[in-house]
Amino acid sequence: MKNTLGTSVTVTLFGESHGREIGAVLSGMAPGVAVDEATIAAALARRRPTVGTGTARREPDAFRVVSGVFHGKTTGAPLCIVIENSDVRDGDYEAWRGLARPGHADYAAYMKYHGFEDYRGGGQFSGRMTAPLVAVGAVAEAALFAKGILLGTHVAEVGGVFDRAFGDFAADFKTLLTAPLGMLDEKAAEKAKAVIAAAADEGDSVGGVLETAVTGLPAGVGEPFFDSVESVLSHGLFSIPAVKGVAFGAGFDFAGMKGSEANDPWRVVNGRPVTLTNKSGGVTGGITNGMPLMFRTVVKPTPSIYKTQQTIDFFKGENADLRLQGRHDPAVVHRARPVADAVTALVLCDLLALRYGTDYLGSAT
Ligand SMILES: Cc1cc2nc3c(=O)[nH]c(=O)nc-3n(C[C@H](O)[C@H](O)[C@H](O)COP(=O)(O)O)c2cc1C
Repeated sequence: MKNTLGTSVTVTLFGESHGREIGAVLSGMAPGVAVDEATIAAALARRRPTVGTGTARREPDAFRVVSGVFHGKTTGAPLCIVIENSDVRDGDYEAWRGLARPGHADYAAYMKYHGFEDYRGGGQFSGRMTAPLVAVGAVAEAALFAKGILLGTHVAEVGGVFDRAFGDFAADFKTLLTAPLGMLDEKAAEKAKAVIAAAADEGDSVGGVLETAVTGLPAGVGEPFFDSVESVLSHGLFSIPAVKGVAFGAGFDFAGMKGSEANDPWRVVNGRPVTLTNKSGGVTGGITNGMPLMFRTVVKPTPSIYKTQQTIDFFKGENADLRLQGRHDPAVVHRARPVADAVTALVLCDLLALRYGTDYLGSAT
């Protein structure tokens, strides 16, 4: 039951949705990486619900860096960030203890932990657990940034509303730091807000797709055979609650292509090998090929909805109807966006440390 991701640069999560605190320990990060608390706070703010589209649970995400940072830089020792849970309402969950929320982990968790699990707010299966992941991910992103490796994720689709594709990566990454709903096209974001609000009015929820891009990654990163870039990134991305699919480059569209359409032609441009298209999403043979790393992540509709649903009472072994109360987002895809950034940064730091050594990401090299 280890709660740790990674091999060389690792992240361990602890806590539960309605416990006193949640947190993450980042181990193996190089010494000398600048840690800016304002940057961490900004990443956490991007994960918080947007007023009007999100849950009524209001968490200020007050965090403390309790170890691993000295004079504003990583020391190389485990870096621990703790976040307080302040807005908890346990009563919401006692009322329907035993009723399995369809699409949520209640029954699966009960079977795994034999009823000892902290079920309040979904316990460790809550989206709340992604807050500390985002906090340490911001440190990983800063380490990559110092090496000229930039990344960003946009909401490519939500509730049937589509965003525009990435264009100028650097400019788009900047836009995404403040973009409403994490979409590049403001008009699409307005439409998406209306679709999310309409779903909420019906007591329902919507899902979507995230698209992540990473530029500046050197070619040759990734560990064959089992720890390919795709494998380890997918491992991290599937840890994000509500993620149900990950596809690199053209992904499932490859199925309908001919080889001549699927292959990315190579050319030397300005003395540098590049491909003219990027259907492979920057990875071939599980190793980065020097083109932007591109992948898409599917986030399902929020399982906790307010419509009456068929379920079971797993204490009584009886069928039941469930009409939920509590505070849930009608969409979580936009909130999963900074989490995808964080996981991507953490996994890439791990792969870079495996390739170039643990000091590579710090200021000592
Ligand atoms: C940032 C974030 C916030 C979430 N908030 C909620 C929520 O308010 N209500 C809910 O039912 N699920 C929420 N989820 C999703 C559930 O945690 C997730 O669907 C559940 O644990 C079952 O896991 P699975 O969907 O990966 O199978 C959230 C997910 C993320 C990433």
